[in-house]
Amino acid sequence: MSGPVVLAVESSCDETGIAVVAGPRRIVANVVATQVAIHAATGGIVPEVAARAHLRWIVPVLDEAVTEAGVGWGDIDAIGVTYGPGLAGSLLVGINFAKALAWVHDWPLVPVNHLEGHVYAAWLQDPDEGDRPEPVFPLVALVVSGGHTFLAEMSDHLTYRLLGTTVDDAAGEAFDKVGRLLGLGYPGGPAIQRAAEDAVRRDVTFPRAWMGDSYDFSFSGLKTAARRIVAETRGAEGIAPDDPDSPLPEAMTAELAWGFQDSVVDVLATKTIRAASALGARSIVLGGGVAANAALRERLSGEAEALALPLIVPRPGLCTDNGAMIGAAAVRRFAAGDRARLDLDARPSLPLATR
Ligand code: KG4
Ligand code: ZN
Repeated sequence: MSGPVVLAVESSCDETGIAVVAGPRRIVANVVATQVAIHAATGGIVPEVAARAHLRWIVPVLDEAVTEAGVGWGDIDAIGVTYGPGLAGSLLVGINFAKALAWVHDWPLVPVNHLEGHVYAAWLQDPDEGDRPEPVFPLVALVVSGGHTFLAEMSDHLTYRLLGTTVDDAAGEAFDKVGRLLGLGYPGGPAIQRAAEDAVRRDVTFPRAWMGDSYDFSFSGLKTAARRIVAETRGAEGIAPDDPDSPLPEAMTAELAWGFQDSVVDVLATKTIRAASALGARSIVLGGGVAANAALRERLSGEAEALALPLIVPRPGLCTDNGAMIGAAAVRRFAAGDRARLDLDARPSLPLATR
């Protein structure tokens, strides 16, 4: 194995993830216990329920990860853990777990910013995958998740300049809210993507918030527009406004899902390409749960190719929260000498970088 072997723990939101990585790129094992089914029942995440589910699953996930990796405790050089941003109760479960392991095994404890993990997922390679070209600096990174949406410039490893961020909702949050409005369930992102794929007419236009020349984003107006468009469509069809048992006809839901997705994808892709061109970026990196979206991936890959810019997007399972992405960032932080003490606390609002 090349480079340090790091055990990584992710529990910032609703996935319990533990991974073993060898060096900054190679996944040895990556196990994720998802709480999607639990939160689907409430249509969203209830923080205390999420924290308790981490508590329930974190030991079995560790067992599975080390078994899959085939490593012994003595093979591990350090432990990395997400300490923010995220839900406080969820973060605390992973942090305390990692501290206990660090203390028992006398491993260095490496604190990892969850957002940095989403960026570093772009460097990861699966256990049996051959070597792939890595992102080249300077690069532009778009991170789009359920809690965050931002564009950053990276001039080198671990070096970020924030170009723009959402001024209200995150892109994933907008997908989740509009998914609920369309009666598509939780999480809305994958459900909207699936519905949109079936759209026959692709001419519904949802508004775009361009935010002037800035690299900032805003999705709350789009959400309001979606609510109005759904209400108008239901009215025109003679369907009661808020009756969950009377959904719109499937074909209409598909068209509205397509229109909403097209608006989000258009704004995200346009700003990312504009930033990459303006800054002379040599590659583009995409990360976060919404980066799993096929329409966004397709649109960005077409535009990046036209500019001869390499676009690096992790496979969908590495875009959504997982331990391997935390491991990839932890190895870099470990090499840079970053260590946390055993009084490490959760930082629910930890930023990646400031402007
Ligand atoms: O990165 P992530 O797993 O968790 C956070 O750090 O927030 O992102 C979860 C978000 C959810 O809002 C979910 O709806 C969205 O990513 N998502 C998608 C897709 N898959 C997940 N959004 C659009 N299209 C998808 N295929
Ligand atoms: Zn995330």
